[in-house]
Amino acid sequence: MRTIKHTALALAGLTWGIAAADLDSELRTALQTAHFTGQVGSSITSRLGRPINPRLADLGRLLWFDVSGGLHSDNTCGGCHSPSNGMGDTQSIAIGIQNNNLVGPHRTGPRNQRRTPTAANSAFYPKLMWNGRFSAPSGDPFNNSMGFLFPAPESNVKFLPNDPAVTHLLIAQAHIPPTELVEVAGFTGTAGTIGPRFDAFDDGKGGIVPPPDGSGFRNEPIRQAVLARLNGNANYRALFGQIFPSVAGGGPIDFIMFGKAIAEFEFTLIFADAPVDRFARGDNRAMTVPQKRGALLFFGKAGCVSCHAVAGGANEMFSDFDNHVAGVPQIAPLFGVGLSNMIFDGAGEDEDFGLEQVTGAAADRYKFRTSPIRNVALQPAFFHNGAFRQLDDALRFHMNTAQSARGYDPRRSGIDRDLTYRLGPIEPVLARLDARLVNPVQLSSDEFQSLLAFVKEGLLDDRASKQNLCRLAPSSVPSGARTMRFEVCEQR
Ligand code: HEC
Ligand code: HEC
Repeated sequence: MRTIKHTALALAGLTWGIAAADLDSELRTALQTAHFTGQVGSSITSRLGRPINPRLADLGRLLWFDVSGGLHSDNTCGGCHSPSNGMGDTQSIAIGIQNNNLVGPHRTGPRNQRRTPTAANSAFYPKLMWNGRFSAPSGDPFNNSMGFLFPAPESNVKFLPNDPAVTHLLIAQAHIPPTELVEVAGFTGTAGTIGPRFDAFDDGKGGIVPPPDGSGFRNEPIRQAVLARLNGNANYRALFGQIFPSVAGGGPIDFIMFGKAIAEFEFTLIFADAPVDRFARGDNRAMTVPQKRGALLFFGKAGCVSCHAVAGGANEMFSDFDNHVAGVPQIAPLFGVGLSNMIFDGAGEDEDFGLEQVTGAAADRYKFRTSPIRNVALQPAFFHNGAFRQLDDALRFHMNTAQSARGYDPRRSGIDRDLTYRLGPIEPVLARLDARLVNPVQLSSDEFQSLLAFVKEGLLDDRASKQNLCRLAPSSVPSGARTMRFEVCEQR
């Protein structure tokens, strides 16, 4: 009797063992076919062609959290790219200036337009932003042989090909956020100190329009005002002087230096060693069985990898860095004092035209960049406007968009109250839905749970967790300005 029992057990074990081995080899084949290696995270220094400079990165970290770099003196990178959420937003739609100094669920203030994506791993993105508007025409953010492409008012003239000072797309990108009026600069920040009054660009309704003389937004005066602050601060002069001999010799801190420091900090935010990476490198135990099954669906019949790509220029970031209409409901904050400081697109000022804002082509309306979804589980909300608060809801929607979009109710989605009052039209969006998203992805509930496990856990690098990242927020900053309060970090 006992022998039989043992044999039965051994047999069961054997069958399970064979099934597991099959699953492993099937997944390994799928990953190889997709050209996924799990090596991208460790490639940062070889891609840079040099080691990361820890002192420069630490200066970038201090700037990341020092509100004195924002002319409104109440926000900077960290207020939106928060360590409590994998260096992404705590909100469905970002809150910039005039905030209550909290970063977390109780942050209040006027809404901007979109959810802040994570800055982690962005060193590997050939196109930045929800509509990919800052890009490396070479297809490689580490390669400036074709310069870096920025829309007006910057244009790529500012970031010339082969400029030895601007060797990475992120150095160029760091020139932009400090100039964003709604994010950090405010509407009257430089008034009376330098350049034209920025409220001259006010459209009279609290929104922003370029000056009527056709010169476009003038960002350079804002940068000069930020630099004047840095150059007027002995601590920053000393910190920049430790790295840049010209500053030590009495020369000015310039914006390329600012960009280099910020980018260097971003190079330390590479969190691309998730279970799927470790599995791809040979560790069969790195993933659970549901994660493996989910990965097979992702790379196989669920069709995800056709957009959330990994090969070639995708740098294993799970995005083709192309723009598609994904049919996300159009959340429109109420416009007005304390509610929103952006005028949305469309006749009802309740739409987001996405890529069309950059190209001017009507065919690009409602297109957004495929989200690179590493560490997506750390986000408090999903899609470009955070229309969903639960990853499983977002995924269910995404796999059956045409059917679900019309029934979307912001009041039941869990998003913040102030975002529940206005929805832009959905029919024109659905009319343009990407062909690959028109037919629902048919999965059994087991399969759905596996896919969810893969997206949620299989793509998560634990180093991006708040336990690890909250310590990046300094307790004091070089300017001596008040520090932002990171709610969730305080609760640890
Ligand atoms: C008010 C909130 C806010 C602040 C402050 C802010 N950002 Fe952002 N950031 C955003 C939003 C929103 C986006 C996406 C915007 C879009 O696509 O239209 C973004 C996009 C980015 C991206 C591109 C990420 C990607 O997925 O392509 C990088 C990099 C970035 N920001 C870096 C910075 C840096 C550096 C600073 C400080 C100098 C900063 N941000 C300040 C909200 C903010
Ligand atoms: C046609 C291309 C396409 C396909 C196919 C596709 N996606 Fe997406 N996905 C997108 C785009 C575009 C977005 C961003 C849409 C937006 O925010 O407006 C997105 C967003 C997401 C998000 C939310 C990320 C965030 O930033 O909040 C997740 C999760 C996701 N996709 C997973 C999947 C999975 C899993 C599959 C397979 C079942 C899949 N996608 C299939 C294009 C695609």
